[in-house]
Amino acid sequence: FFQDFSNETRRDFLITSHRGAAQLAPENTVSSVNAALIHHPNRIEIDVQQTKDEVVVLMHDTTLDRTTNGTGLVKENSFLELTKLDAGSWFSDDFSNERIPTLETIIKLIDGQCELIIEIKKGNDYYPNIEKNIVNIIAKYKAESWVIIHSFDSEVLKRVHQLNPNITLHKLFVGKLKFMPFIVSNQFESFNIDKQPYIKAYSINYAFANRDIINFLKSNGKEVNVWNLNNVDYARELISLGVDGIITDNPTLLKD
Ligand code: G3P
Ligand code: CA
Repeated sequence: FFQDFSNETRRDFLITSHRGAAQLAPENTVSSVNAALIHHPNRIEIDVQQTKDEVVVLMHDTTLDRTTNGTGLVKENSFLELTKLDAGSWFSDDFSNERIPTLETIIKLIDGQCELIIEIKKGNDYYPNIEKNIVNIIAKYKAESWVIIHSFDSEVLKRVHQLNPNITLHKLFVGKLKFMPFIVSNQFESFNIDKQPYIKAYSINYAFANRDIINFLKSNGKEVNVWNLNNVDYARELISLGVDGIITDNPTLLKD
């Protein structure tokens, strides 16, 4: 896999650029998505939260404190209030004009140049209508063919599937995974592969990936991704073990 893939999108394993491109620009901003696009990843991953007036915006945390000059919960602010915040200076002074983007802005920006993975962190019990609002945005831009939704929360994925069965869904897992026929479990959940046939891929933490779990998932027809992998030697090893894709903060990781 050491061929040159600097100028084209590759498919033999999939590179997902994480939080836009979190090592190259402030995460989950227009600059981070543009920084990713330059390197032609197969996919770009972003996180979303929702404002008090139900605008879906890019933000990893439920609070503003870490990645903006604001404080408090995203859900207690209107979108207008968020537009005044600096979402870049925490990363570098070069990004002091960065603002919190809406999901719509990012969908228009990517416009099918690569796949977009939206991570829904909190479902509609925390953010009213968030799954419906996201599904409606995807439909508005006719983006079903290149937008994927992933989540740690299988109830979120179930609701999205009920709202629009054409949207591709991936399940995120953290921690050590055990498996037995049809069941994948960790310390948080016991997940029946057979009961969620609409989930196309499983994205597991790289530290807990091994040949057995990769083989188990793949033999059940699932694509396997590992997150968040920023070390080229680990990436090589996991690709040799058969993972289909890596999620990385640096889309140039395997370029060199
Ligand atoms: O790609 C998986 C990853 O995005 C989940 O973790 O915290 O970076 O959103 P986090
Ligand atoms: Ca994420």
